[in-house]
Amino acid sequence: MIDLHCHILPGLDDGPAGMEQSLDMAKQAVADGIQTLVATPHTLNEFYDNPLQHVEDNVNRLRKTFRKNRININVCTGSEVRICAGLKQKVIAKEVATLNNNGRYILVEFPVHVIPPGSKEELFQLKLHNITPILAHPERNLVFQHQPELLSDLTAMGCLVQITAMSITGRFGREAMECAHKLLKNRLSHVIATDAHSPTNRPPILSPAVQVCARILGSLKEAREMVVNRPQAILNGEPVKAPEPRPLCKKKWWFNWALPYPLPINHSTIYH
Ligand SMILES: [Fe+2]
Repeated sequence: MIDLHCHILPGLDDGPAGMEQSLDMAKQAVADGIQTLVATPHTLNEFYDNPLQHVEDNVNRLRKTFRKNRININVCTGSEVRICAGLKQKVIAKEVATLNNNGRYILVEFPVHVIPPGSKEELFQLKLHNITPILAHPERNLVFQHQPELLSDLTAMGCLVQITAMSITGRFGREAMECAHKLLKNRLSHVIATDAHSPTNRPPILSPAVQVCARILGSLKEAREMVVNRPQAILNGEPVKAPEPRPLCKKKWWFNWALPYPLPINHSTIYH
């Protein structure tokens, strides 16, 4: 299996604090059957910058340490970039890391509570330059949880969707789990990744989520596509084959009025 989203570089963000924790995480990943993981430190969010060269230097250091400790796992360069103005220019200028440094796919994160104005235009600009955004864990975003049809707009534009393994198994709460399952059922998600941060609370383990996903999709083969073939195509910079999405069912009105809080932002505010 391939883990496309993993905070394994020590000291670069809110992932492992030191190399010992990174080694523990790598051992867990190997034990779970993960052969390749992509180091995706937070980038350009309010706390961390992590430019491409800095990430590459740290990936090389990690590879050497894994070899020295006889841990047999491939590590690729990557980043989890916060959506921001001028993202396309930053990618073209090689200021931020694309996945496997191939210039074709980039992992993009939204804030938890909102979709910032202008997001759709930024993603469209990336697509225009043949760079495919992969949206990191939209099932954990409050707006997408209540308006998953907004995600359909973005996938119709050519964006891909990454769901987090622990959302599928319920460790991020009921709302994230229900949203993840809905996205899976409607073929609005393309890859599963761990978004691991530590060997304890958020380890790099995919297998339990793949099992749940197989039950939801009714196919272990299709579930494994999400952790084997599609991530491999992404790392190779090749097109990703995925089934057509199914139309989303509208929520019944009695569920709508029962939402626990008003939506933080409305549709017309989200997209310009
Ligand atoms: Fe992440």
